[in-house]
Amino acid sequence: MRFHITTFGCQMNVHDSQWLGRTMRDKGWEDSDEDQAEVLILNTCSVRDKPEQKVYSHLGRLRDYWSRNPELFVAVGGCVAQQVGEAFFARFPYVRLVFGPDGLPMVPEALARLSREPGLRLSLLDFTESFPERDTALPDQGVQSQAFVNIMQGCDNYCAYCIVPLTRGRQRSRNSEAVIAECRSLLSRGVRDLTLLGQNVNSYGLDTKGREPVFSDLLRNIAELPGLRRLRFTTSHPKDLSSETIAAFGRFPNLCPQLHLPLQSGSNAVLRAMGRKYTLEHYLDKVELLRRERPEIALSTDLIVGFPGETDQDFEQTLEAMRHVGFESSYSFMYSDRPGTRAASMENKIIQDVKAARLKTLQDLQNEISQAALQERVGQRAEVLVEGRSKKRSAATQCFRGRDESGRTVNFAAPSGSDLDFSGQIVSVRILEAKKHSLWGCMEEVP
Ligand code: SAH
Ligand code: SF4
Ligand code: F3S
Repeated sequence: MRFHITTFGCQMNVHDSQWLGRTMRDKGWEDSDEDQAEVLILNTCSVRDKPEQKVYSHLGRLRDYWSRNPELFVAVGGCVAQQVGEAFFARFPYVRLVFGPDGLPMVPEALARLSREPGLRLSLLDFTESFPERDTALPDQGVQSQAFVNIMQGCDNYCAYCIVPLTRGRQRSRNSEAVIAECRSLLSRGVRDLTLLGQNVNSYGLDTKGREPVFSDLLRNIAELPGLRRLRFTTSHPKDLSSETIAAFGRFPNLCPQLHLPLQSGSNAVLRAMGRKYTLEHYLDKVELLRRERPEIALSTDLIVGFPGETDQDFEQTLEAMRHVGFESSYSFMYSDRPGTRAASMENKIIQDVKAARLKTLQDLQNEISQAALQERVGQRAEVLVEGRSKKRSAATQCFRGRDESGRTVNFAAPSGSDLDFSGQIVSVRILEAKKHSLWGCMEEVP
């Protein structure tokens, strides 16, 4: 049987899809192009209206495949599946499985059953009480140097605009021994770079009444694992970023100088209405402490423009905060109404044109700040974890791409005449040029 997975949304969904793909292959299924597959899987995102609409239009296109091959069926998973549930069955007759984020571990078996029993429909939408542990399907030995490790499921913050607590459920921390066992086994397979994943990793453990350690302790245990060169975590909620976690940046050289710390707005009035539970001043204090521990730390953020009631002055404060912090990059979005959230029923909605204009202003400013930050790297050395080869610049030199300690993309030329493959290694690169979203350099000769 052939399958194809299409993934929308965040790192969590990407990671879930990778697990599903590996598990299906282990069970003898074959990966294929979408037009060749007998089972089509959509892993969906509901964080804004646009990605939700993409799911319906994608499903609409799959109708053609189904009319050519009525045996084929579709499984819809992830956050839109959790939100919309069995209503998918009525709207798209070729959808035969819906599964939420917690249902994922049961999906391989459900798909096998559906392929044996035509006409059957299944839904896996219940939230589990604890972290939905799944069999580890590990990558093949030596094929990759970077991996993600889930440490929690769900979120308890209920920010006024956000649907995630409704689609991914309450926060449940994963057993720390299971986390560490997975890290160890990835390291034993040649992985050098780990990213810990969760909607709000800084509050890891707090839901377990002391059964699991707090985040900074988990982080220390992982940072000390032999063989780990690079450690990162995402996403962080500023209110839960503890002084112990901040101190870890000064203490563990393998904890990368990079942090994604969503600010959302620079206005205290808007932050309050969003229910973010911190002020701009709190946020800036944490930034200062982080920079004291690691002066070179690269900060990135998420920002929402046009939250209900946002005034021109509020928006100005967001721009001011961006300049003040100097975020290397940001993800920015126009506020979008999500069903079931508090913000959806707020008054003072901002009209589309105003939201669009604010987003443009914000993104122009971000481009300037990002460019200046990349420009500052020129002339410096970077430690680059090589991901693979990139386009050659001349016949005599091999080129590679990778990421520096702070996660910036670096393309570089290997020493001329060398035909070694540096993929998976960490090499030293002299930065020569700042491009629009990446750096260019040349590898320093190995002494
Ligand atoms: N748990 C993470 C990520 C949540 S979703 C965190 O708290 O940072 C990723 C981003 O999408 C959010 O940070 C927010 O900026 C944006 N987002 C969430 N809901 C939104 C909405 N209704 N409209 C616009 N942007 C939204
Ligand atoms: Fe959504 Fe807020 Fe939870 Fe992030 S912290 S997932 S923005 S509710
Ligand atoms: Fe989207 Fe769900 Fe992730 S809503 S951002 S896929 S948690």
